[in-house]
Amino acid sequence: KKVAILISGGGSNMMTLVNSMTGDHPARPCLVLSNNADAGGLKKAVEAGVATAVVDHRPFKGDRQAFEAELVKPILESGADIVCLAGFMRVLTSGFVSQFQGRMLNIHPSLLPKYTGLHTHARALEAGDAEHGCSVHEVTAVLDEGPLLGQAKVPVLAGDTPDVLAARVLEQEHKLYPAVLRRYAANDRTPVLLG
Ligand code: GRF
Repeated sequence: KKVAILISGGGSNMMTLVNSMTGDHPARPCLVLSNNADAGGLKKAVEAGVATAVVDHRPFKGDRQAFEAELVKPILESGADIVCLAGFMRVLTSGFVSQFQGRMLNIHPSLLPKYTGLHTHARALEAGDAEHGCSVHEVTAVLDEGPLLGQAKVPVLAGDTPDVLAARVLEQEHKLYPAVLRRYAANDRTPVLLG
């Protein structure tokens, strides 16, 4: 199976996925694609020997369809069977998502269905939650929803700030996403539940 990974920033999740696809793993990375030419993950991908591409969303202003018509090209050219969103910070329309129905994953830093959208760690702290975490789900037309493929839980500790909590969650993201991808690439959709 060939995997395209979409990023917008540092790409730590992308790198854990790339590094996990070795040996008898049924998948290999075929593309790292970013909407941000300055994404730190692009350099990491090049160093890892993975093909990269950039489709900057800014020239398209609010025209999501026009941006996505460009964004889809390198993914199709790469021959990707699976698309992994990993710190990809653009909302995708149902038109784009429908091209990858049942073969596009996303990692989100909350225990979905709680806290879809942004600032999830601050919201969990504000709510006084005793636990928080991250989720991997199949991408559907509704933002941060879709069939759950994995979840990892972390405790919320006294004195946690959003950054401290985010770091604790990110550590679990790096365990969860590769575990989910390995099963998913083997057509096993049994949820991975950690912590
Ligand atoms: C992470 O906080 C993750 O929860 C979200 O994007 C952020 C950056 O991830 N999906 P990465 O380091 O770019 O993979």
